[in-house]
Amino acid sequence: MTINTTLTLRADAPIGTISPRLYGHFAEHLERCCYDGLWVGLNNKDIPNIGGWRTDVVNALKAMPVPLLRWPGGCYADHYHWRDGIGPADKRPQRLGMSCGLQVEDDNGIGTHEFLELCRLIGAEPYLAGNMGSGSVQEMCDWVEYCNATIDTTITRERAANGAPNPFNVKLWGVGNENWGCGGSYDAESYANEYRRYATMLRHVDPTAELVICGHNDEWNEAVIRTNRNHFGLMDHFSIHRYWLQGGAEVDFSEAQYYALLGEAHDTELFIEQTAAYLREYAPKDAKFVGIALDEWGVWHPEARPWGPDKELQRVPLSYEQANTMRDALSIGIALEVFHRQCNILTLANLAQIVNVLHAPIMTQGEAMWITPTYYALQLHTPHIGATALPVDVANGSTIPGGKSEASTQAVSATASTGANGTAVTLINRHFDQSASVTLVTSGVSGVVKAQMLSAESPRLQNSVAQPDTVGLSDLAVHADGSNQWRIELPPHSMATITFN
Ligand code: AHR
Repeated sequence: MTINTTLTLRADAPIGTISPRLYGHFAEHLERCCYDGLWVGLNNKDIPNIGGWRTDVVNALKAMPVPLLRWPGGCYADHYHWRDGIGPADKRPQRLGMSCGLQVEDDNGIGTHEFLELCRLIGAEPYLAGNMGSGSVQEMCDWVEYCNATIDTTITRERAANGAPNPFNVKLWGVGNENWGCGGSYDAESYANEYRRYATMLRHVDPTAELVICGHNDEWNEAVIRTNRNHFGLMDHFSIHRYWLQGGAEVDFSEAQYYALLGEAHDTELFIEQTAAYLREYAPKDAKFVGIALDEWGVWHPEARPWGPDKELQRVPLSYEQANTMRDALSIGIALEVFHRQCNILTLANLAQIVNVLHAPIMTQGEAMWITPTYYALQLHTPHIGATALPVDVANGSTIPGGKSEASTQAVSATASTGANGTAVTLINRHFDQSASVTLVTSGVSGVVKAQMLSAESPRLQNSVAQPDTVGLSDLAVHADGSNQWRIELPPHSMATITFN
């Protein structure tokens, strides 16, 4: 059976700009993400590195790309004291770091300067998460001053003495992380009140800093926004996290679980819309716009967590590293369709996490590095970054078991954009085992510049250190089918991007 469907690009109905910040990533001091995955140390002679950062990983990140990078947590942020990570490396303290119930020994080899240098190397905007759990307002104010102040103070002299006479000008600052849980077990009202104190003082230090307030579930979000309804000016982005948990085993999932995970990914849109509805409901007349920051998202398989559904699958001992199959790559594409549709209210997003941990595009083992299907899924979307999102109408498509929203049941879906480099469309055939014959109707394009596809024999396939090229990109045939009409054949569970001039 082949699905026959027609997709029409709506160049007449632009949605908005796809901010590069929607393609952000997240690096936490959790297991082998930062230490080992990204950072191998200044004196490492075995693994080629640039000032301690793995050269192979840096090059792969540059090519992905990574427009935004959040650090140092996550839960880790609410134990992190930034002063531990400045000054001569051999004088830095060895601390107990903590995230997700896991204690780590942190020699603070990666500190503010090192992290911001990584951002410079890969072309990412930094996003720093401050410590509200075990820190203080003054500590966070000092961090902002250290990074951004232009006036002559003891703190800015210290920055200069540590090698950075000019301010780093870090715009994005998280005021705590998951403060309903690991970041202090606050209730919503107490957090909202405490947030205001932080935000007021931080604004005094740097009025241009963009502050991210911590959200959670609908109940918390409504209460935090309601409590701060007269203080929209103190909030720039409202943080929510969404991990997809319903997909069963990481590799040996059933067909029903395959669809459950994709449906869950699609329904992230409902969570974004609900959060936006609370922001609209409580916004005073003429209130400053507050965006939504989905600053942790992705698949979290049961093998890699001690909580949530399918606990019996948890790996022992527990590790936050997990498989990354073609199914996981499709979930990335589905989420990016959502981000493009919601680009007027979603202001940033960070996939969790960037190397080795959770839904990682890149894996390392000793000297070896390989890239996952998720990496290719992200790379396929590069033409959309910074472009204008366009809606895509779907007609005559088959349906599949989806999530809660009706749109999640479409077997074939797509997102499109138009920008300085032409028009791009990314298509997904979500069907488990049926191929799709797609008629794509465009307007105002003259020809195909590039067409690439991500596919695999089975949605359960992944890459590994021994077989790094099992899942990868291939060229896609696009046949002209009349004026501004194209025919594309998509295998089951596949994704493709076509760029037109
Ligand atoms: O990404 C792993 C953890 O998940 C983060 O530390 C925390 O914010 C979330 O619960």
